[in-house]
Amino acid sequence: MKHTTDRALPSPNHGPAICEPAVTQTREWETAYRGTRRSLSTRRSRISLFELNTEESILDLGCGDGLDLHVFVELGYTRVYGLDTSLQLLAYAEDLEVIQADIYAMPIAGDSLDVVFVNGVLHHLADVEPAILEIRRVLSNGGVFCLIEPTSSPLRWLANKLTLSPFARFSRFLTLRKQMLEEELPCQEKWLATERLFPGLLEHLGFQIVFRRRSPFSVFIKARAT
Ligand SMILES: C[S@@+](CC[C@H](N)C(=O)[O-])C[C@H]1O[C@@H](n2cnc3c(N)ncnc32)[C@H](O)[C@@H]1O
Repeated sequence: MKHTTDRALPSPNHGPAICEPAVTQTREWETAYRGTRRSLSTRRSRISLFELNTEESILDLGCGDGLDLHVFVELGYTRVYGLDTSLQLLAYAEDLEVIQADIYAMPIAGDSLDVVFVNGVLHHLADVEPAILEIRRVLSNGGVFCLIEPTSSPLRWLANKLTLSPFARFSRFLTLRKQMLEEELPCQEKWLATERLFPGLLEHLGFQIVFRRRSPFSVFIKARAT
């Protein structure tokens, strides 16, 4: 892992935020996460959906082991940075510019980034609103917030039922997914129940929705800081 320097990421200009801590995340969850969500082609097409400019500074917030960062680099983006709380996952992000920090109190100057990209992180948080305020703080005016999170759908409901059923033990993928799902279920359910209200919350907190799209498993939102 190559830690970012002040030269790479804008330096801090504020103290730590006071808010609810993020949900606890075990080493078992992190190991299971590394056994799933590996499709690079899916990641490429999802990133392309947002039609970002390769010159823009991009922060992958909750970057995990850095798969999306690798895809950004491969697609020609040159100013890409990652931030995550997990040192165990960041250790895999070799040769990338990453920092260990909390989404609730990022050591990044305000008004300093063109893009904040968040893939599968908000549904892990105990409290989404202070995280959105923190994202708005670090984005420049006109900057873009790109979000990919779970969406509620009959297919997800079915997949979750199957994952939590005794049949999951016959599939390595489902066994790993079960490990993850059991740990994040309360948070995921809370997110899924309020997901449809999220665009309104974004507008309330200083964003304009550029688009909101859905697939059977995910919601994709692009919003501009106003
Ligand atoms: C489902 S993983 C997604 C990782 C990555 N975005 C991906 O698509 O592979 C959720 C990530 O959010 C990180 N995370 C959870 N709470 C966080 C927080 N409060 N601040 C920063 N990162 C957090 C976890 O460590 C984990 O890497």
